Amino acid sequence: MDSIRTQVGIVGAGPAGLLLAHLLHLRGIDTVVVELRSRDYVERRIRAGVLEHGTVDLLREVGLADRLLRERMVHEGLELLFEGEAHRIPLTELAGRQITIYGQHELVKDLIAARLATGRPLHFEAGAVALSDLDSERPVVSCADLSLECDFVVGCDGSHGVSRPSIPDGVLTSYERDYPYAWLGILAEAPPSSEELIYAYHERGFALHSMRSPQITRLYLQVAPDEDVAQWPDERIWAELRTRLSRDSGFALADGPILEKGVTALRSSVVDPMRYGRLFLAGDAAHIVPATGAKGLNLAVADVSVLAAAFDRFYATGKQDLLDAYSDTCLHRVWRVQHFSWWMTSMLHRAPDADPFSHQLQLSQLRYVTSSRAAAASLAENYVGLPLPCLPGPSASAGSSAPDGFASPLSPPAPAPDQ
Ligand code: APR
Ligand code: PHB
Repeated sequence: MDSIRTQVGIVGAGPAGLLLAHLLHLRGIDTVVVELRSRDYVERRIRAGVLEHGTVDLLREVGLADRLLRERMVHEGLELLFEGEAHRIPLTELAGRQITIYGQHELVKDLIAARLATGRPLHFEAGAVALSDLDSERPVVSCADLSLECDFVVGCDGSHGVSRPSIPDGVLTSYERDYPYAWLGILAEAPPSSEELIYAYHERGFALHSMRSPQITRLYLQVAPDEDVAQWPDERIWAELRTRLSRDSGFALADGPILEKGVTALRSSVVDPMRYGRLFLAGDAAHIVPATGAKGLNLAVADVSVLAAAFDRFYATGKQDLLDAYSDTCLHRVWRVQHFSWWMTSMLHRAPDADPFSHQLQLSQLRYVTSSRAAAASLAENYVGLPLPCLPGPSASAGSSAPDGFASPLSPPAPAPDQ
């Protein structure tokens, strides 16, 4: 069994773990990343694909955005479709910021390539089986053939990892919400049928038209939590999408070969605190959001931007203040994002036991958010993403406090910087 000494042991090579490794590498902090799965598996895992403005700013700032900036699609708005009519929310006009469409697995490929280019350790198929001595000065990550002796451990191993369960009972408070529906998602070789994303509220359930490139679309249908994907042959999926995305003014949904399909549960979960001793949790290991707000990846990025600044300050000055503030700093944003994701989910899905009163409330909410500039601006501000608490650079070691990232809604939005 190899035993390696490192400053920060990172469990999981998803966006959270890989980006944290890169941010710490830029600050000369040594890390070792261990990942349960193979490189091929991690790079092929289809997930979401909406990046907030701040996420792209951070990736560009740390030299990880070359391919992203070349291949991405930039959107300045989205559509809400209900009662057969589409309503555009002008995100950039209202919030001064854009969103980027770029597949999460493409970003993971870029992050892996960047890690390998540094020559720093990234062990695939080396799942952590146990974390120990987390409340000592030398926590240990044990894998089958490898053990890491660390100053700190960061659990970036998602919602089914070993990090969170390694924390003794009674330390964490868990907040859970399961939604009575799921998403049937497809990746299709078909050109997008609209310039921007379409979120549809339909009596038969929610639907989402998204995309990956001018040749590839990503589409979702609300289904039952225990839906059997085998009951959804391709033609049934296209027929249902055509129905839920139809509008009075006419809309042709382009179809094509379905490359990938799967059912994803919708749930919200948060653990507090996001730390135990020398173990820190980041990304899905600490919180899950329903996909309706497109926030999962962006929240993981926000966590590690705060954590990187905190480690930088610790190793530069010996001060633990930002490490001690990490959990509260992140949870402030986590709950804002949880609320937005719950709100979008509740507004746009038909609950199986929905009574006519709830339906009218949802219609009223949709009519309000598409007719009131103030309400639309609130959606836009949350959707494009609140400024990241910490952007890289010298400030962290100079003791920057991590603000909660709220630009004052009363101040006019800053003009969209040319990215
Ligand atoms: N040891 C090592 N790695 C592990 C272990 C383990 N015991 N268990 C899980 N992992 C790995 C998984 O294989 C995965 O590659 O941890 C990684 C966690 O990555 P993600 O699930 O992508 O989580 P995160 O990096 O926090 O990114 C959050 O991912 O799931 C989406 O919607 C989510 O967009 C959000 C983003
Ligand atoms: C996606 O493109 O996969 C996507 C877009 C918006 C969402 C969720 C997923 O809200």
